[in-house]
Amino acid sequence: MRIVVIGGSGLIGSKLVPKLREHGHEAIAASPNSGVNTVTGEGLNEALKGASVVVDVSNAPSWEDAAVMKFFETSTRNLLASEAAARVGHHVALSVVGTDRMLESGYFRAKMAQETLIKASSIPYSIIHATQFFEFVKGIADFSTDGNKVHLPSALIQPIAADDVASAVGQIAMGSPLNSTVEIGGPEQFGLDELVRQGLAAWKDPREVVADPNARYYGVKLSEKTLVPGDGARLGQTRFETWLSQPATQSPSAHPQPTGAAVVTQEKETPKKAS
Ligand SMILES: NC(=O)c1ccc[n+]([C@@H]2O[C@H](COP(=O)([O-])OP(=O)(O)OC[C@H]3O[C@@H](n4cnc5c(N)ncnc54)[C@H](OP(=O)(O)O)[C@@H]3O)[C@@H](O)[C@H]2O)c1
Repeated sequence: MRIVVIGGSGLIGSKLVPKLREHGHEAIAASPNSGVNTVTGEGLNEALKGASVVVDVSNAPSWEDAAVMKFFETSTRNLLASEAAARVGHHVALSVVGTDRMLESGYFRAKMAQETLIKASSIPYSIIHATQFFEFVKGIADFSTDGNKVHLPSALIQPIAADDVASAVGQIAMGSPLNSTVEIGGPEQFGLDELVRQGLAAWKDPREVVADPNARYYGVKLSEKTLVPGDGARLGQTRFETWLSQPATQSPSAHPQPTGAAVVTQEKETPKKAS
């Protein structure tokens, strides 16, 4: 099959394309770097000619509320219209476990809008909800930092290696459309504060992680299970500790944050009035 991977140069896309090729498919990495822009439409119709499947693992360059909404709405509309014209038979999109529980955040409202457009279109689809990637743990620390302290709640998180995400997305892309949403996650649960503490220790990052029940995760007040998948989730094999010990993970700044990602995460208590 010809499978076009939108965002094929990104973290997941660059792992997914070779996996699809290993299975004998013609996998095309498409993104602005290779002349395909889903926001402007540049190069899109040409890239989709003869494609059976389109996998969307793109991400917005800015996570500022209005910019991220514009990105996912415009990009998804353009993609679905080009897919209909090219008679693509399967649209696969990567989204986030708990998206519908985190609509306080502009990023998750934009992911929700993406999913709503996909479900309303005529193209058979599979939506994959993944938990946070191991590669994102440093990003969580960065947007939760105040001075030298990282404030995070101890809500549960079940992170997954990007390599395991790419394998699961590949399996689903090579199969029949599910016309529903499936969840994928990692093999273990952590407290969010503990996960980041372990990551920073391994990277010899001096920041101190403070367990703070009032701290927000990317602007969202988490309950214990907001970030964790349900019972039927497909689980990756790679453990966080194993991943941390791999040489390639020793420079996590290699995967920088988009602009607009900095968020003040601490919910300040209202100061008591002096009587
Ligand atoms: N981070 C997490 O923990 C997590 C968890 C669950 C799900 N997800 C989802 O996973 C998806 C992929 O994330 P990622 O970290 O792999 O992304 P990433 O590494 O930031 O890569 C983003 C990709 O999007 C492409 N892109 C940007 N603007 C584009 C445009 N106008 N047209 C076409 N392509 C464009 C980029 O292309 P260029 O390189 O050419 O600019 C790049 O290939 C996201 O949708 C995210 O919501 C993430």
